[in-house]
Amino acid sequence: MSESLPQRIQRIGLIGGGQLGRMTVQAAARLGLDCVVLDPTPGSPAGQLAARQIEADCHNVDKIRELASQCDIITYELEDIHVDVLDELEQQGHRIAPSAQVLRTIQDKLRQKRFFQTHGIPSAEFMPIDAVALSSFAAFGFPLVQKTCRGGYDGRGVCIMHSPDDFAHHLSAPSFVERFIPASQEIAVLVARNQRGECATYPPVEMGFKPGHNILDILLAPANISDQLAESAVQIAEKTVDALQGVGLFGVEMFIDPDNRILVNEVAPRTHNSGHHTIEANITDQFEQHLRAIIGLPLGSTKTLSPAAMLNLLGAPDQSGRAVVRGLAEALAIPGVCLHLYGKKETYPQRKMGHVTILDENLADAAHKAHQVRDLIEIGVADPEGQ
Ligand SMILES: Nc1ncnc2c1ncn2[C@@H]1O[C@H](COP(=O)(O)OP(=O)(O)O)[C@@H](O)[C@H]1O
Ligand SMILES: [Mg+2]
Repeated sequence: MSESLPQRIQRIGLIGGGQLGRMTVQAAARLGLDCVVLDPTPGSPAGQLAARQIEADCHNVDKIRELASQCDIITYELEDIHVDVLDELEQQGHRIAPSAQVLRTIQDKLRQKRFFQTHGIPSAEFMPIDAVALSSFAAFGFPLVQKTCRGGYDGRGVCIMHSPDDFAHHLSAPSFVERFIPASQEIAVLVARNQRGECATYPPVEMGFKPGHNILDILLAPANISDQLAESAVQIAEKTVDALQGVGLFGVEMFIDPDNRILVNEVAPRTHNSGHHTIEANITDQFEQHLRAIIGLPLGSTKTLSPAAMLNLLGAPDQSGRAVVRGLAEALAIPGVCLHLYGKKETYPQRKMGHVTILDENLADAAHKAHQVRDLIEIGVADPEGQ
């Protein structure tokens, strides 16, 4: 065997068994790899397809140790993990990617902001606060965004305040404040980086959010920005992942401000919602790319095969219970529509139940079809009135 070939990896340990994990397990199967998933929910989306699921939450140190003992490498699909045990496992010689150090920097958003500052990565101005008090918020100045240091996702740890009156909605967890950026566009760049420091980067995509919600609604690939901005976005994203010395796939979220400046919002040390279209629209999808990066296989081409729009299929408002999907046949009759359902049995408002990617030579047509699909598909319960 040539020395350049990676040490043989057969089994991947995956912390978190949601949709990102599920699509990682699907990619792993193509590469002939087994996965063991750690997730508290029996029959989790990833656990349904994996060789095995350990039913435990991501802070259960004993179960994380058990996972490590059964696998050749550990990776994860979420940030909220007990990081000290990952540190300990690394010291014992277990392989973890991205590393415990990277996760530690990212999982605390304030630490992440300080990291950006130290490494000259452009990002919104911020201020740590000792206590959540109107006086300290006012000292920083409105409009601002309060962000909790830990545990936020899909906008749960974010509170936008336009004026002191909005302080009434503040979050009561350890947090910091940052400048509100009246962004003209939000984009994301996915970067895969391997142990040797080589990067494979995907073209920037544009994220559209539902007004009033912070969950990604429709994604457009490629982003409708100038070549020059796209080039700077790629450079900034690679610089960020390089500074982290990250190994694996990273989602770098950015704002484009009214002066056309790019500011990094946050980094995810994992596969990302803004890369789901890569399954159909790029030569190598983000999930396979992540696996290639962490196990030391050559990184794949990120070349775009077709413009694409991606729509998250979210649980209908006011409906919770056993999920029923309506309108699938009508949606799938639209040419270019590719469906992914995550196997979640229960729905609740705004829950990510699946996604649809639409390929079309014309991006505006793909976006139009995405809106049609959004009107056609509803994920709710059998008898919403009876709820
Ligand atoms: N400084 C900011 N200025 C304006 N909008 C912001 C700012 N920070 C966050 N947001 C909005 O809130 C959304 C969620 O914030 P983010 O920090 O990405 O949290 P999450 O971890 O939940 O994704 C962003 O995508 C953006 O729409
Ligand atoms: Mg975000």
